[in-house]
Amino acid sequence: MDMPSAQTLLDAITRASRDEPDSGIISAVNHGIGRAGIIPVWSGEGNVPTPEAFCRPAIDSLLKGETFYTWQRGIPPLRAALARYHTRHYGRPFDAENFFVTGGGMQAIQTILQMIAGEGDEIVLPTPAWPNYAGPMRLSGARPVEVPLDFANGSWHLDLDRLFSAITPRSKAIVLNSPSNPLGWTASLDDLKAVRDECRKRGLWIVGDEVYSRFYYGKAGETRAPSFLDICDTEEQLLLANTFSKNWAMTGWRVGWLQAPKAVGAAIERIIQYNTSGTAAFLQQGCAVALDIGEDFVAEQVARARANRDLVAASLREHAQIRFELPRGAFYMFFAIAGMKDSLATTLRIIDEAGVGFAPGGTFGPGGEGFLRMCFLRDPAKLAEAMDRFGKWLRTSRPV
Ligand SMILES: Cc1ncc(COP(=O)(O)O)c(C=O)c1O
Repeated sequence: MDMPSAQTLLDAITRASRDEPDSGIISAVNHGIGRAGIIPVWSGEGNVPTPEAFCRPAIDSLLKGETFYTWQRGIPPLRAALARYHTRHYGRPFDAENFFVTGGGMQAIQTILQMIAGEGDEIVLPTPAWPNYAGPMRLSGARPVEVPLDFANGSWHLDLDRLFSAITPRSKAIVLNSPSNPLGWTASLDDLKAVRDECRKRGLWIVGDEVYSRFYYGKAGETRAPSFLDICDTEEQLLLANTFSKNWAMTGWRVGWLQAPKAVGAAIERIIQYNTSGTAAFLQQGCAVALDIGEDFVAEQVARARANRDLVAASLREHAQIRFELPRGAFYMFFAIAGMKDSLATTLRIIDEAGVGFAPGGTFGPGGEGFLRMCFLRDPAKLAEAMDRFGKWLRTSRPV
């Protein structure tokens, strides 16, 4: 038999999986990964490994033989720990039955999208946004309706009238990621109420992504950003995606959760069954402990992120051609370079010429071109070195 050509094979897969553009973050990573001396700030993760105290229960569970198929909704101790964690942070009782354990925040997002939108449906999404929203929407046949925030007078602004005028009879949901990756923009309680009221009025799902809620640089004593949980009932048309990745330094574990009204629990369970058939039980044991004993670690991470944010901001302010808003949440700096037209080409040049790996702003959708993103939850000495190299590059080179 003659082997089919690569083109024949590509013609035999769905158009959506063939034509979906690569995430520009991954394009940058693929270009620079493994290069000697590169300082990568392209991905959204810190540089410290998971603390031993969260790893130990996972190792013990594995050695105890917890190696079988498990609950589709997540192991009961983890769901109970999630309810306790929310009760502590949101000041009212939560029920374990509203929590579903997923393969990372990413599978929580996938599950949400699969459950609420299909071919021909629309989902309203403020941008610049993490590309892992629009990409999976398109893969499932749904259309992301992207509404750019404005960057004016050095700050990002969400025009709610513009957002709501993007709703059509095909709309199923508004997705709001706050604090935002990549902007650090953080919704006020009034913004959240307005989105809630519009969704209630139009019968839409409120989809909240609050994975960075603890990385919030608010007033002293504030330990999280404003949340839909401050103003919504858990049994209303509300779905929240969350993850262990960021707060507890567990990106490689691939464990997250989804919070949903109990009425759709069986549907979520089916989607999980037909996708991953559940998340490894031994990993979930480590996650449960992280929730219960991880507060000091989270506080340390947030303090480090705040100090790093200020370090990076001070360095960027030295360059007249750079504009940015000091982020109020998350752990990214999203900055514009005057004259930059092609953020991906510029990102690749900076990797080649300065040995610093940013992510291109254009990949975050409308409003993102002309910007670069960097993650600042990194080792401060490496960050200082990255800023130094980038500063020298800016003085001698031009963005494209
Ligand atoms: C806005 C946002 N949501 C969700 C996630 C999901 O993270 P993970 O799949 O690692 O749990 C990320 C990760 O970067 C993110 O930035």
